[in-house]
Amino acid sequence: MRITIQANSGELAFECDGTERLLYAGLTQGLKLPYECGTGTCGTCRGRVVEGSTVVEWDEAPGFARLKRAKGDVLMCQARPATDCVIRVPANIAADASSPTLPRHRTGRIERVRRLNAEVIDFEVALSAPMTFEAGQFVVVELPSLRGGRAYSMVNFAPDASRLRLVVRQKPGGGFSNWLFGGDVEGSGVGVFGPLGHATFHPEEGRNLVCVAGGSGLAGMMSILERARREDYFRNHKGQVFFGVRTLADGFYLEELAEHVAAAHGNLQVTLALSHAPAETPTHPRYPGIALAAGLVTDVMAAATGGRYDNPVAFLAGPTPMVDIALRMLIREARLPPAFVRYDKFT
Ligand code: FES
Repeated sequence: MRITIQANSGELAFECDGTERLLYAGLTQGLKLPYECGTGTCGTCRGRVVEGSTVVEWDEAPGFARLKRAKGDVLMCQARPATDCVIRVPANIAADASSPTLPRHRTGRIERVRRLNAEVIDFEVALSAPMTFEAGQFVVVELPSLRGGRAYSMVNFAPDASRLRLVVRQKPGGGFSNWLFGGDVEGSGVGVFGPLGHATFHPEEGRNLVCVAGGSGLAGMMSILERARREDYFRNHKGQVFFGVRTLADGFYLEELAEHVAAAHGNLQVTLALSHAPAETPTHPRYPGIALAAGLVTDVMAAATGGRYDNPVAFLAGPTPMVDIALRMLIREARLPPAFVRYDKFT
């Protein structure tokens, strides 16, 4: 079926069969359609169907909350075409089908499942075809037995990666996390769509890194640190990582973080912020390269930096309240240019 997009910047078209979601089909064909989560929660992929009809996969998706469905509004990440369609999308949309990071569908197999603590599991997906992605990007993982997809940031970074390393925190009522925590999932097949996401690290920008993560939001930061280390980025640039957890026992990837600190020529500081426990020593008892501080991760960042940042690019990931506070501190109070404060809304 032919899908015509009427954007602010002009008209574009792509093909989409009735089994494919509009957003995914457009992205795979190089249209830079607006999106953030890719999974029905953020509302960014809004379009108004002015001709033709669609079938909506997940009617109760939170992203519909502010849409006028009676006027034909759909979430393009949740809608499949039933006919040729003309869709009005209020955005400027470019097209580039030559990008090496163009998202597409792959399949994968779950391997090397490791429990990092009571609530966090790390695993790898062996891909059916290698994927090139930017540090900081994510994929949507789909299970045949569950409706819809879940978005997870890559923990690793490698050009042309044949494996993705992902981390999942158990959530009450979380279908995918309950499945993962529930039993023997090694070898299970999954669908993978990606790479997706705009909160990406580009070493050529030459900026000092500020990373603020809560819980499993650390995933994308690990990918960014891996890329930085591969390029010896911290020989000439500085980095600060603030990682918020409840107690010392909730920290994970600490060994890898300590290794990044040791390889960074004294230019990388990592602080573990404990929101529900005191910091009994100034540094982690097992990983002395990692500082400890008590408090919310955003308060710990504010105390450590004094609200002053030198030529920074900031990456934020974690619970929405944490991201909102960090945005206020960095953009409204410290007046960093929004282009250098990056996050993807996909929780
Ligand atoms: Fe579709 Fe977020 S709701 S991209």
